[in-house]
Amino acid sequence: MQTTFLPPSSFSAAAAIPDMASYEALCAFAERDYQGYWGKLARENLAWRVPFTRVLDESNAPFFKWFDDGKLNVSYNCLDRNLENGNGGKTAIIFEADDGAVTSITYKELHAKVCKLANGLRARGIAKGDRVVLYMSMSIEAVVAMQACARIGATHSVVFGGFSARALHERIADAGAVAVITADEQLRGGKRLPLKSIVDEALALGGCECVRNVIVYRRTGGNVKHAAPRDIWLHDLMDGQSDVCEPEWVNAEHPLFILYTSGSTGKPKGVQHASGGYLLWTALTMKWTFDIKPDDVYWCTADIGWVTGHSYITYGPTVAGATQVIFEGVPTWPDAGRFWETIEKHKVSIFYTAPTAIRSLIKACETDPKVHPKNYDLSSLRLLGSVGEPINPEAWMWYYRNVGQERCPIIDTFWQTETGGHMITPLPGATPMVPGSCTLPLPGIMAAIVDEAGQDVPNGQGGILVVKRPWPSMIRTIWNDADRFRASYFPEELGGYYLAGDGAIRNKDTGYFTITGRIDDVLNVSGHRMGTMEIESALVAHPLVAEAAVVGKPDATTGESICAFVVLKQARPEGDAAKALAAELRNWVAKEIGPIAKPKEIRFGDNLPKTRSGKIMRRLLRVLAKGESVTQDVSTLENPAILEQLAKAL
Ligand code: PRX
Repeated sequence: MQTTFLPPSSFSAAAAIPDMASYEALCAFAERDYQGYWGKLARENLAWRVPFTRVLDESNAPFFKWFDDGKLNVSYNCLDRNLENGNGGKTAIIFEADDGAVTSITYKELHAKVCKLANGLRARGIAKGDRVVLYMSMSIEAVVAMQACARIGATHSVVFGGFSARALHERIADAGAVAVITADEQLRGGKRLPLKSIVDEALALGGCECVRNVIVYRRTGGNVKHAAPRDIWLHDLMDGQSDVCEPEWVNAEHPLFILYTSGSTGKPKGVQHASGGYLLWTALTMKWTFDIKPDDVYWCTADIGWVTGHSYITYGPTVAGATQVIFEGVPTWPDAGRFWETIEKHKVSIFYTAPTAIRSLIKACETDPKVHPKNYDLSSLRLLGSVGEPINPEAWMWYYRNVGQERCPIIDTFWQTETGGHMITPLPGATPMVPGSCTLPLPGIMAAIVDEAGQDVPNGQGGILVVKRPWPSMIRTIWNDADRFRASYFPEELGGYYLAGDGAIRNKDTGYFTITGRIDDVLNVSGHRMGTMEIESALVAHPLVAEAAVVGKPDATTGESICAFVVLKQARPEGDAAKALAAELRNWVAKEIGPIAKPKEIRFGDNLPKTRSGKIMRRLLRVLAKGESVTQDVSTLENPAILEQLAKAL
């Protein structure tokens, strides 16, 4: 038996989906009439300039099209509609700066800023279909920039502000961006971190001649190079522009954004999302999963550089007309009570964060009881959410008791960059919750668990997580690489099902899903997704490194940590020399990819464990990384003696 927690009846009474019968009725509608179901939702939830007549076009599977003869504009749906509905004076964003300063902006003001920037971008010749890369800190301006792109039909590609110049360069070049929008610097944890100078460095690497302009938001006033006419201050670009801007009406399939994420090869994948289907799902999940209400103060702590920031900061809350908090800082500064203090300060009612943050804050209260949530007034909270990685039952219970005070349902939302929005999650007013399980798919999401031949496996038996039918907010393709899209997500042996890349198991009695982790070479460190091959490529780019293999190691706080096994072109160092070189390599990876990709541990060996055909046996490296001894059959190993050498941490 699983321990279950029922949604409080007071919550259910007012919830969008108040009970399991309503959930099941929606699922049954989708089963019975898939196109009718999605068509009805798309008509009811979005404003269409030209109504669609086709719901789903499967003629060129897996390149599915949704609502594709309909026309709309995403920014119109997120902003103008709020003004038309009498929400113009409502607070759209409460910006909580790193230093605690607060700036609020209404929907009317947000609309005006977006229109001014959209006009400014148009004045610089940026038009529908152009790609614009954003390399920004958390700010109102980041949302304005994304919405302004959407308004003129430009496709944005946000690159997380923690990525290095090299990683940024690769993404700008792959996207063929005509402009980059950045800030002079960002403020995090009381420190100023560079942004504009990293853009300069990225562009200087060459191959980015496509970039005509760099638009710079002045955040700190720090000293940055300004190379006019290429570089333009954001305020200068907006100055004098009209606060009215006719939206570009685009087809529903028009690419709203590209967001790079990690896969099993060294090269990041540009996940391309469409406009109509994506916006529909963000709107619906705001209602169904977040149960958003007009008086809510919603706060998602993600960064706009990740998909969570796209769907549940820039687009979801605005299309829902919600008031949201956007936070610039870090959860542990000035102390680890910052989240709880901010909830108290802004009377946050819906709070959405990552298990890693929860685990690190649990640890922090053990050493500093002052930062325990019980010392703050969290009575405004009514719903808690978790995203990005599995939440272990202990962290779930702590979150439930200490933050939600046993009053707030927890939605453990499973989804991915590729899915555009929530896929498997409890509905807060309906689903009995089980710590550690993301429970059941949302209505219309045909998630299942299959074996390697695509056959359903019985409940209680683990397998591969798939989605059997296309859904509106799914990835459309990989930018510039349709073959990789097909091979990565629709492998032939699965017979047309979408392959999520995660393993999962369903409970025998309840059918509830539990995600068991990635089944490919993708790591999840602090909720950040990273490919082992990407880190290996970065390591072997170092002049001293001959070969490298990277594996994940379970970590109590970050979920997984990165462990790298390295073979050098020179003799294997020991003692202090090994420690010094490991430190150098960690910094090297930070420079190549970004600090989030730094291996926590590096071990040097004369070789790596390989089969006779030369294949690196990663599963043995995983065992060694955990500090366990190898008990598996090693008869296929060419060089079993190497295991002993690699077993020793530095
Ligand atoms: O492994 C799953 C894990 O995060 C991966 C997706 O990462 P990304 O594309 O960066 O998107 C993160 C934000 C949606 C998934 O393949 N993951 C995400 N949410 C959960 C999860 N694993 C378990 N439970 C979750 N709730």
